Amino acid sequence: MRTIDWVDDAIELVDQTALPDRCDMLRIGTVDELIGAIRRLAVRGAPALGVAGALGVALAVRDEPDPVAVAARLRAARPTAVNLAWAVDAALGHLDGGFEAVLAHALRIRDDDIAACRAMGERGADLVRELTRRDRVRIMTVCNTGGLAAVERGTALGVVQTLHERGRLAEALAMETRPLLQGARLTAWELDRMGAPYRLIADSAGPFLLARGYADAVLIGADRIAADGDTANKIGSYALALGARRAGVPFVVVAPESTVDPATPTGAGIEIEERDQDEVLGVRGTRLAPAGARAANPAFDVTPHDLVTAIVTERRVIRPDLGERP
Ligand code: MRU
Repeated sequence: MRTIDWVDDAIELVDQTALPDRCDMLRIGTVDELIGAIRRLAVRGAPALGVAGALGVALAVRDEPDPVAVAARLRAARPTAVNLAWAVDAALGHLDGGFEAVLAHALRIRDDDIAACRAMGERGADLVRELTRRDRVRIMTVCNTGGLAAVERGTALGVVQTLHERGRLAEALAMETRPLLQGARLTAWELDRMGAPYRLIADSAGPFLLARGYADAVLIGADRIAADGDTANKIGSYALALGARRAGVPFVVVAPESTVDPATPTGAGIEIEERDQDEVLGVRGTRLAPAGARAANPAFDVTPHDLVTAIVTERRVIRPDLGERP
């Protein structure tokens, strides 16, 4: 199953707001519908947002009188994952060729993402073995970085899948990932479908469980990697990186090259999406906090590069301490 694709002249995507209760497909025929789906996280995860953005430009070129203006709104639907802006710009670069050329480029981005996720899975699994020197490993992860965050397989969770397929996964420890519970709802659903051994943990348990030796490595995805290696990812990643460093556990970022943003020199320049406070004040529509309570809701944080053991892309392994290799 592909999380997002172009089917019969429209975008088809898994409605991630309905998981894990139902796996519904949504058909998206207009850019406004797509912007709505992106904002409410029906489609989410940096690589999937990139594919959505490129396919959205195809819809704009086919149907909208001013596709460039509509594409600008699509580009701004979520600010942190650079893949969305990158893919919209790349697709707009084919505007002169009309709808067919833009769609062809969007489908190339889709196909490249599928290949990149496979390559990251292999390279990441090799690196985990090198860093841990263990036959069977326990991996801690946050948010959802699996096939649901890409087209197929995903990034950090794609490495977990490859480890599992190689018979090397002892256990995945998935953080539930408040406030929107991508770990509890989506990562657990994917691990279950893989038949992989896993347990969910509360977000606040992550650093302590690392201190107690419950995991051999932490694998996370990224929404944007600045030129110096500072990495924006789901809120909670920074705390996990601090805990991993204190415990001496490798902390590995897995992301495609399209997530690397050379135009942003350091993490300080990454815009962090602030989402609606109701997401923190309750869970799935049920209010938890007293009426009138207010909340801050940054969707992402930034892990400084000195806390990152390695960054794995489809082309290279970057070790902030040791440099880079193919
Ligand atoms: O708010 P989300 O669910 O879009 O956040 C997603 C993440 O933080 C992922 O870790 C990141 O996009 C990498 S996905 C392979």
